[in-house]
Amino acid sequence: METDTITIDKLIDIVSRGGYVRTGVDVFNKKGVLLIEKNISIRSINPLLVIKKYGVYDIPINLSNSGGVWDESGKPISFTTEKNEDSSIDGPFGSENLEKKIKEINAQKKEAAEKYIRAKKSIVKVISDIKKSGGEFEVAPVEETVTDILNFIAQNNSAFFYLSKEIFSYDDYLYNHSVNTCTIGTAILIQFNEKFGEIINNYLSTISVEALDAQGAPASMSFIYYLPEELHDIALGYFLHDLGKVLIPAEILNKKGNRTQSEFELIKKHSFEKGIQILEKNNLKNPFLSNTVGYHHSRLFQDEKGCYPNDKHPIELPPYVKICKLADIYDAMTSKRCYKEAQNPVGVVTEIFRKYANKDRILQFILRSFIKIVGIYPPGSVLYLKNGQMAYVLDSQGPILIPFTDPAGSVLKSKSDPIDMNEGLVNDVEMGIDRRRPLKSPVEAYDFLPSYLKSAVQ
Ligand SMILES: [Fe+2]
Ligand SMILES: [Fe+2]
Repeated sequence: METDTITIDKLIDIVSRGGYVRTGVDVFNKKGVLLIEKNISIRSINPLLVIKKYGVYDIPINLSNSGGVWDESGKPISFTTEKNEDSSIDGPFGSENLEKKIKEINAQKKEAAEKYIRAKKSIVKVISDIKKSGGEFEVAPVEETVTDILNFIAQNNSAFFYLSKEIFSYDDYLYNHSVNTCTIGTAILIQFNEKFGEIINNYLSTISVEALDAQGAPASMSFIYYLPEELHDIALGYFLHDLGKVLIPAEILNKKGNRTQSEFELIKKHSFEKGIQILEKNNLKNPFLSNTVGYHHSRLFQDEKGCYPNDKHPIELPPYVKICKLADIYDAMTSKRCYKEAQNPVGVVTEIFRKYANKDRILQFILRSFIKIVGIYPPGSVLYLKNGQMAYVLDSQGPILIPFTDPAGSVLKSKSDPIDMNEGLVNDVEMGIDRRRPLKSPVEAYDFLPSYLKSAVQ
């Protein structure tokens, strides 16, 4: 392929004097985003200025594929290949940084996998103890497991995305669901607590100490900020929230067809009756635990259907219980069960958001924390840019993406650098994420990926 290079400044000069350029080859920036299509004739300097802004200083022209540069009278301009001095400028991620980032993510995944296995062993033991004794289990090791999860999530709140979701049996479902609800719920809880902490601090800083003494801290806010030991008790509640199910016959829990009314009534008891009984048998009287176990299927707004028990008005339900309910629904919907397939996480987030948005203010805060944690693009998934290119999600924060196809879906020949979507340049229409096209989960995306990204997924 005969490709010459012309500097962007020279092209801007030619086009500003009425000339035009056709590259004859698709031109990508270092991050793999398509900037110029091969068959388009550029007759205005604006796209060239944008391209320069993106750090592309040398433009390839394929003369043998109808590419070329012409002056204002349509006469071809000959040029010799020359390199712009600035072309060595690199973005925030060189390929070295890409390797580093992939290594970091793999290390986190490994750590998460180890913690997940430990947590699963812990819940397996609890469930087998309960089955044997009819309700009693060894509490201390579970406390340790939950402390470990809480500390891990506090350091890295998207860690639960690295956790496995392969579920094949009822027992496995309950084990995985306990760990997942605990990790997702704890991540949302920490996010919520931090946001509320900020609000309380801001509020307190606006009033004088004398005024505070006179009126006290605002009751509706102060009770919402959870202290570290409370966070621990809540996380333990998330881990144990469905324990009552152990005392419900598995054939009813796993029934594939429609359940009868009496079967459904029995299942409901796993929370407010069986779950509470188990807590009492183990002398676990802490309200953070009993509220979570007893009310994690209650209403989040007054007219919500199919909830139980309904003896508390949604306003009375503590925020941490509401968080448990959202984490529980999210995990149940995105998990495969013996009677249903897993739903796409992005669709699930949208569904949950639509259902619970614009109810009460606290729920709004909880929902915001929920979206911040799970509504992001999971690492390892694949999405589409608005120009049709497919991109791999390297990190949810940003998100940081690696485009790996051209707009027609063919895999790019060279490895692209990651793009941080937080940077200003992604405001450009072409480079935005196409939110109308469904995200592919890591499992769905695997076959599309070039080999260097496959190693990042494993
Ligand atoms: Fe439940
Ligand atoms: Fe649950």
